[in-house]
Amino acid sequence: MNSTEHVENHSKIEDSPEPKHDGARNIKKKSENIITISEMEKTYQTYSETLNVLKGVDFTIKRGEVVSIMGPSGSGKSTLLNIIGLLDTYDTGKYLIADIDTSNLNRRQKQQIRLTKIGFVFQTFNLIQTLTVRQNIELPMNLMKKTQEEQHTKADQLLTEFGLLEKAKKFPYQLSIGEQQRVAIARALVNDPVIVLCDEPTGNLDEANAQIILDHLQKLKKFETTILIVSHNPAVKAITDHDYVLTQGKIQKELK
Ligand SMILES: Nc1ncnc2c1ncn2[C@@H]1O[C@H](COP(=O)(O)OP(=O)(O)OP(=O)(O)O)[C@@H](O)[C@H]1O
Ligand SMILES: [Mg+2]
Repeated sequence: MNSTEHVENHSKIEDSPEPKHDGARNIKKKSENIITISEMEKTYQTYSETLNVLKGVDFTIKRGEVVSIMGPSGSGKSTLLNIIGLLDTYDTGKYLIADIDTSNLNRRQKQQIRLTKIGFVFQTFNLIQTLTVRQNIELPMNLMKKTQEEQHTKADQLLTEFGLLEKAKKFPYQLSIGEQQRVAIARALVNDPVIVLCDEPTGNLDEANAQIILDHLQKLKKFETTILIVSHNPAVKAITDHDYVLTQGKIQKELK
């Protein structure tokens, strides 16, 4: 992607075309929608069956909101999150980020938005097994060509906060599942994303570590970071503005 394309795509998300080292801190206070989904449908076609997972999802999130999506296993939460994170496509409907129609983005534009604007915590972590904890956390900053010093400082801050400093030189397979989950969360946050998408971010953590993660996500509110959490953990509701349920292929209702 050339620099013109870069500016063109991201100015709409940031409200300003200037390059930013920290996107989240530069969002103007506005109540407009940052995520707008309408009549979204998604079908998985396997050779033996057609599975209609999303059957007309209408869903919006305003800038700076923290929202949760709950719903039964298999209801399509990860599918929806992957689409919102530009990792998967949908069949029909519309999906806008700020006022950018995501169906008009090419692969490289999507990659650039993912790298600079979106932090994604995968349900299965997706850590790179051949990199150490520190290298995993520094990777997104590396891809953004941040200085070594910037990378170290930010990684140290998150490693300390999430209780991972002494594991910095270990590889993912040498960590407990809960430790891997915390590394995945730290990696999602290093580039100060404007939108944070978390798929069961506390699913493998004890109460104390879950609380550290939720406290950290809550602190991002003051930077107007938009956060979407898929979770079964009722403690999440303490930090959310709205809670939704995905069931029978639709966002059915708001719980509060
Ligand atoms: N690549 C795929 N090919 C075919 N079917 C798929 C694929 N990915 C997901 N599915 C199916 O789509 C449905 C929704 O899956 P999804 O992972 O979105 O559910 P979920 O709500 O995140 O569940 P959980 O709470 O268990 O994580 C499931 O029935 C699943 O089997
Ligand atoms: Mg899931």
